[in-house]
Amino acid sequence: MALLWWEIFIVVFFVLAVLLPAAVIAFKPQWVFFSRGAKKSNAETINLVRTFMTHYSLPLGMDPLHRQLCLAFMDPFVKTVYSLFAILPDPWMVAICRAVDAFPGNTLRYILHAIIGRTHLIDHVVTEGIKRAGLGRCQWVLLGAGYDNRTYRMAPLRQAYQVATFEVDQEPLQQDKLRRLRKCAAVPPSAYEDVKYVTCNFNTERVQDVLLSANYQPGKRTIFLLEGVSMYLTKEGFAQTLAAIKELCPDDCTLTFDYVDERVINAYNGRTDIVDPPTPPLGSPRSVESTTLDEGMSDCEEGAMVVDKKTAASKKEEVASRASTPLTAEERRYGVQYCSVLERNQTPVTFGLDPSRLETQMAEHGYEIVQHWSPDELAQQFLKWPGGKESKHGGEIVSRACTYFYYCTVRPVRGSAV
Ligand SMILES: C[S@@+](CC[C@H](N)C(=O)[O-])C[C@H]1O[C@@H](n2cnc3c(N)ncnc32)[C@H](O)[C@@H]1O
Repeated sequence: MALLWWEIFIVVFFVLAVLLPAAVIAFKPQWVFFSRGAKKSNAETINLVRTFMTHYSLPLGMDPLHRQLCLAFMDPFVKTVYSLFAILPDPWMVAICRAVDAFPGNTLRYILHAIIGRTHLIDHVVTEGIKRAGLGRCQWVLLGAGYDNRTYRMAPLRQAYQVATFEVDQEPLQQDKLRRLRKCAAVPPSAYEDVKYVTCNFNTERVQDVLLSANYQPGKRTIFLLEGVSMYLTKEGFAQTLAAIKELCPDDCTLTFDYVDERVINAYNGRTDIVDPPTPPLGSPRSVESTTLDEGMSDCEEGAMVVDKKTAASKKEEVASRASTPLTAEERRYGVQYCSVLERNQTPVTFGLDPSRLETQMAEHGYEIVQHWSPDELAQQFLKWPGGKESKHGGEIVSRACTYFYYCTVRPVRGSAV
């Protein structure tokens, strides 16, 4: 009899702790990921994804030591859902995450792995940027920092290189972040107290003024990030942010950001000028112009980055021929669902760019592309198991990334200062 009760308990536990959360995440991820209808919940969602990363293997995942940092920012409801998952051994959890993220019925299909890949991409950009600049020669500004824990995870690196670091966001969120940090005994104050916290609304305020008043040194090399933010800005807010960066540091900065393909926003808004491609191979990658560091950039003696104009020019023709690429069926379907989920969450997707015309769109703001990653290129570079014979899945891509997010690093064109 006792054995039967145990069996019933195990079945009930399995259904409640594993099947139910997995089904909810697979079919209605927005119930978990966008639970509050408040602006900050998008930032909390990204934090939840980073918490999952601490269960993935290194180097694809995040060091389990950083889990406490993620938990510090977690909402109690989300923490409960997460805790049910966290009972599972890591390989099970990763397998479930991969399965539900790839599940065709999932409204936000492949978004989990897009965020994971993006986190790795930006970690890579920042680490390389800080090391390349050298001791005491670089500043780092996170625009729309949300509950990102990167500045604390990277405290040893930025402190060793004496990188003045700024986190910019709207006041309520930033105050909440600091309150949560101070409450969390597992995070030492030395990891976050030297960061300068600056409040700004990019749509209505001048970010250059708030940064300067926080002791930002104009003209000094700076790594700017705008991760998971551009889609919530107005067109003017985005333009003002680019203008502010150019004003602060016209000659020696980079801005790394992700953006939504503007064609999915147009499709969501019911624009009729979008036509389905004649033969839309589901999930086929759309390539982007990619003036990459490897192909088009070189470091001069001072360490400043210089665009190889010849390579960039030869790319231009290719780009122009792709300028009118229509959306694939998959891009349209999942992109439109994404816009719809965010609209219902009262954080509508208001801004996007066209990956096939990014070079032109950036040039209009006086910027040039340093590097540009399509969803497929993100997966190729940042969502792979490590190579080598000893690795079971050596070199295999873990997951695709959703098709409507793109990633780029840009910088002001020299001599175009305002
Ligand atoms: C999805 S979260 C991303 C947070 C963080 N960058 C990360 O990757 O974890 C978007 C962030 O952009 C901020 N944001 C949105 N619109 C903004 C605006 N107009 N001005 C300043 N920050 C804004 C939000 O407060 C939020 O923290």
